[in-house]
Amino acid sequence: MSASARSDLPREEGPVGFFDSGLGGLCILEAFKRECPGESTVYIADSENCPYGNKSADEITCLSEANTRKLLARGCKMVVVACNTATAAAIDKLRASHPSVPFIGIEPAVKPAALKSKSGVVGVLATAGTFGGRLYRETKARFAKGVEVIAVVADEFVELVEKGETSGKRAEAAVRAKIAPLIAAGADHIVLGCTHFPHLRPLIEKVCGGRAEVVDPSEAVARQAKRVLVNSGLLASGRLEPAHEFLRTGRARKNR
Ligand code: DGL
Repeated sequence: MSASARSDLPREEGPVGFFDSGLGGLCILEAFKRECPGESTVYIADSENCPYGNKSADEITCLSEANTRKLLARGCKMVVVACNTATAAAIDKLRASHPSVPFIGIEPAVKPAALKSKSGVVGVLATAGTFGGRLYRETKARFAKGVEVIAVVADEFVELVEKGETSGKRAEAAVRAKIAPLIAAGADHIVLGCTHFPHLRPLIEKVCGGRAEVVDPSEAVARQAKRVLVNSGLLASGRLEPAHEFLRTGRARKNR
């Protein structure tokens, strides 16, 4: 029997839960599995309610709470909010309503991009919800002083990734339409501020053509998740075979 299905095990043997509005957060899940190969995971792709990007903060909070409850019902010991938009809208409330659960969130990596920029111009791609959140505003005000930060809403990318259309003419045209103006404006760093966007990274890099560095925080989030597991005494012992469960709302369940 898999660790994710057993309630008789110590808490640290439980799975780590992940959720996103859809398939985007899989890049965080994959980074986490590389970082912590002994951990079991449960991933919820809330594709039925995708996109989150243009929903109200209240609506996203309700959806995030529902995803969290499903993960906790499966014995998850920690929840990774693998979605910038849900982190911006809901992470404070999730932490308040589940005080014994460690939550890991994700926000656009404006800080490293601004610190490393030589041109003084960085581009950030995210959803309207993420740009409207307190986290983005505060990080930008604190760490991007004197740097021009160009915010670009790229909802089209979310739709492409949900459809599995990460290459081809239509995807390349959509990527070019968002990236080329940033390059023309002198951006030397392009921050992927939505977990759907790393899935389009090969195309984004092609359009950048070496003129800008693409910043994807997936690995940093995975490392942070591991740090929190270690510091909370929740790292799995490694004695059980890890199990991975993938749930997609509005679709039949399957294991990956
Ligand atoms: N993947 C999500 C994020 O990181 C949002 C995509 C959506 O709009 O649903 O923000």
